[in-house]
Amino acid sequence: MELQSALESRRSVRRFLDEPVPRTDLEQMVKAASWAPTGCNRQMWKFIILDKSDDIHWFGQFSGMGWVAKAPALVLFVLDPETEYWREDGSAAVQNFMLAARALGYGTCWVQGQIVPHEAAIKKQFVIPPTWRVLAVVPVGKPEKWPDPPVKKSLSDVMSYERF
Ligand SMILES: Cc1cc2nc3c(=O)[nH]c(=O)nc-3n(C[C@H](O)[C@H](O)[C@H](O)COP(=O)(O)O)c2cc1C
Repeated sequence: MELQSALESRRSVRRFLDEPVPRTDLEQMVKAASWAPTGCNRQMWKFIILDKSDDIHWFGQFSGMGWVAKAPALVLFVLDPETEYWREDGSAAVQNFMLAARALGYGTCWVQGQIVPHEAAIKKQFVIPPTWRVLAVVPVGKPEKWPDPPVKKSLSDVMSYERF
């Protein structure tokens, strides 16, 4: 799939078919994530793949995370905040990951707001070092259907030449 097509057709998907995601596909997505730029090329990140039902269902205990627990696979984006740009590094990786997933025909969703209150529990459950941070969890799977495009601001609203 062309990059522009992946950019324009990616959607946040929150309902998935009950079909496993082959590990080779997950590894291809993580490879794309790991090609993202990082401040000073530190690459202080870890991408934890969860594709066993017990691990995924564990998320279902938290309110608002029931739909996450129904995805066939999840990827945790975990970073060492000792690097100044860990949020930016992680965000670039999440975006690369989601575009690679789209190109392979998978839906994803950047889940961050919903994990913030549960970060300590997630770190304990998946044996993440105490000083590291969980930036986001991204569910992956074939979509039940591709959602309609969200309303996006027009180019003239968000772009200008020379001055603000
Ligand atoms: C930093 C960030 C945090 C997000 N956190 C959540 C979240 O906790 N739960 C959720 O369902 N979607 C979350 N989203 C997805 C957004 O709601 C979604 O990207 C937005 O509505 C636009 O839709 P689109 O992704 O289909 O273009 C998050 C997106 C970003 C970039």
